[in-house]
Amino acid sequence: MTISDAAPLAQVPDSHVNDAGNRIIDGPLQTDSSQRAIIPARAYVGQAEFDLEQERIFSSGWVWAGYAHWVEEAGQVHPVTVGGKPLLIVRGSDEEIRVFHNSCRHRGMVMLEEPAKVRRRIQCAYHCWSYNLDGSLHATPYFKRERSRGLPDAADDLGLLSVTSHVWAGMVFVNLATDLDDAAAAADFEQMLAPIISRWDHVDFTRIQLADEREFDIGVNWKLVVENFLDFYHLPFIHPQVGPVSASLDVDDVWLADHIVGGTYPRGAAGKAAKTEESLPFLGDVPADRTESQDIFCVFPNALLFLEADWFQVIGYDAVAPDRTVEHMAIFVDETATAEKYSPARKSLTDILFEVNEQDMPILHRLQKGRRSPGSDRTNLVTHWDQITAAFQQLVARKVGY
Ligand code: FES
Ligand SMILES: [Fe+2]
Repeated sequence: MTISDAAPLAQVPDSHVNDAGNRIIDGPLQTDSSQRAIIPARAYVGQAEFDLEQERIFSSGWVWAGYAHWVEEAGQVHPVTVGGKPLLIVRGSDEEIRVFHNSCRHRGMVMLEEPAKVRRRIQCAYHCWSYNLDGSLHATPYFKRERSRGLPDAADDLGLLSVTSHVWAGMVFVNLATDLDDAAAAADFEQMLAPIISRWDHVDFTRIQLADEREFDIGVNWKLVVENFLDFYHLPFIHPQVGPVSASLDVDDVWLADHIVGGTYPRGAAGKAAKTEESLPFLGDVPADRTESQDIFCVFPNALLFLEADWFQVIGYDAVAPDRTVEHMAIFVDETATAEKYSPARKSLTDILFEVNEQDMPILHRLQKGRRSPGSDRTNLVTHWDQITAAFQQLVARKVGY
């Protein structure tokens, strides 16, 4: 058993704690005109750089893989790709969610390419070996060139290979670098996510229900998705409907750990245009000083989280190619907010959140195009806005060796 390297890292950067108790980083940027990027432009377009990132980032720590609601019922099987590797998220007859490598133990064929609901087993289409929902081998027809019952002697070694996984807040995370049992995986995951778990301990994430979800298939490198998510500077220009400029400017850059950076709008919900006529039931017992705030955090590398008092939004994504990223956006509300009477409020909430994400699409495409320019190797992150983007880039650079 090995422990992942996803635990909180390194030392706190130059920073101060503000009145709200948030750690605001004052570094790493020291100048408004650095004339250089921390990550080189080639890392946004090159296949070799992308392949290194798949190994050193997406295959070497905890990574968002999918949603628990994709396998709501026992027997549901959902293929995903993490770090370029095909995986299967499976809901067992015991209601547990497990993750396996999506590769038949006979000749390695991918077992499923589309989500499916199976009765009790997953069957490979090539030579019809089948597996139980807990991954164990169930049948290997004509294994000894004759009709026979029973399994080969080596059956115990021929089950689907399991992947360390953990479910939290409606999301399935995996860690391809470890081989932990469930209890050890939970402990390792909770250590990785401790700063968020304690910051959001007023929310009972076992109560959240999906309000709506959508997929965005974007011709952009994954790092630009994260950098745009961490860019609070563009809000008044690209998303003017979210409120007056004064509300957009009122944001704290917050550093919770090297791998958890983002921001908070202390008066986000109040200063911005209302997303719903009346607010939905709150997600748990929200403290009075947090009822109007919005938290926005990237859990490195690919879980982008938003929390307001009455909704929780996730953008998890799969880095498919140097210039392609598939986002899976989901909006969750409290279980009491799924009542019919809240249907118009839920719809206006999800409409506006999808619209905000849609507005970023042309920007992302043009950011990607810009990476073909020699000018994009000499970009300027500015001290007043881009400290957390710089922190993200530093983490990528350290892991990959840029
Ligand atoms: S490859 Fe799956 S049964 Fe042969
Ligand atoms: Fe945006």
